[in-house]
Amino acid sequence: MLNRFEGKVIAIAGGSGGIGSGVSHRLAEEGAVVIVGDINLNAAEQTAAEIAAKGGRAMPLKIDIGDEASVTSFIKIAVSTHGGIDGFYVNAVDSSHSRDDSDPVAIDMAAYDHMMHVNSRGYFLCTRHAVPQLIARGGGCMLYTSSGAAFVGLPNRPVYAMIKSGIHALSRHVASRFGKQGVRSNVIAPGLILHPVMAAALGPQFLEEGLKGVKAPRLGQPKDIAAMAALLLSDDGAFVTGQVISVDGGATMRP
Ligand SMILES: NC(=O)c1ccc[n+]([C@@H]2O[C@H](COP(=O)([O-])OP(=O)(O)OC[C@H]3O[C@@H](n4cnc5c(N)ncnc54)[C@H](O)[C@@H]3O)[C@@H](O)[C@H]2O)c1
Repeated sequence: MLNRFEGKVIAIAGGSGGIGSGVSHRLAEEGAVVIVGDINLNAAEQTAAEIAAKGGRAMPLKIDIGDEASVTSFIKIAVSTHGGIDGFYVNAVDSSHSRDDSDPVAIDMAAYDHMMHVNSRGYFLCTRHAVPQLIARGGGCMLYTSSGAAFVGLPNRPVYAMIKSGIHALSRHVASRFGKQGVRSNVIAPGLILHPVMAAALGPQFLEEGLKGVKAPRLGQPKDIAAMAALLLSDDGAFVTGQVISVDGGATMRP
């Protein structure tokens, strides 16, 4: 295993979900102190305990990205405990209204507002409070998770697609506005990534259709996103900024 994060502190919001826990483990395996942030503190504690059991360093910490006070408190505690942060990965998603994300005619606007509040405004809030800390550290990385849904027209989930497209714009802004101060910013756009919760939720027929859509012999796994996140957050990604990188087995191919 590489050791690209020795002496580095990386915070991740949504660090104990299917993809997030894979990323947290990978960063810790490479020497990072990982601040495992999640609205589900029990899950964050479990991920941090698993990392510690393998000899890694992780601190579980509650964050609700939809709540500015929670975001500022999270960052304040991370910085005061570890002296600063070198990277902030915003990966969380509140999926509680996914099934309501139907179309602009039918959708309940309360569901729209909730999705926008957490999954779009929340990403903005993390950026607002993390970037000054990266600058104070002398430079660092923002990283975000979007989705292949941002590139294709789907008959459902228009709000999710809008939100994820917006994250591309946010990241490009950060790269452009703060690049000269040493801040890089990139987005990972995953395709279908199978983790236990996902595998249980999706039936075999859905997975079979998903497999037909990729050019690789298998569907994605959290370790695929973790490998790209580690590259982009490390100095191996030093000249990569303002990019949206698809990790989707070739499901989408863009010029
Ligand atoms: N799994 C996939 O196939 C797939 C595909 C494309 C994009 N994505 C994106 O990848 C990211 C991770 O997805 P996942 O499949 O691991 O989802 P997941 O539901 O397993 O994990 C999401 C995590 O975010 C946390 N969370 C929810 N609301 C939060 C809030 N307000 N504040 C902080 N944390 C909060 C949850 O507790 C959970 O740990 C998401 O941004 C998702 O949109 C996933």
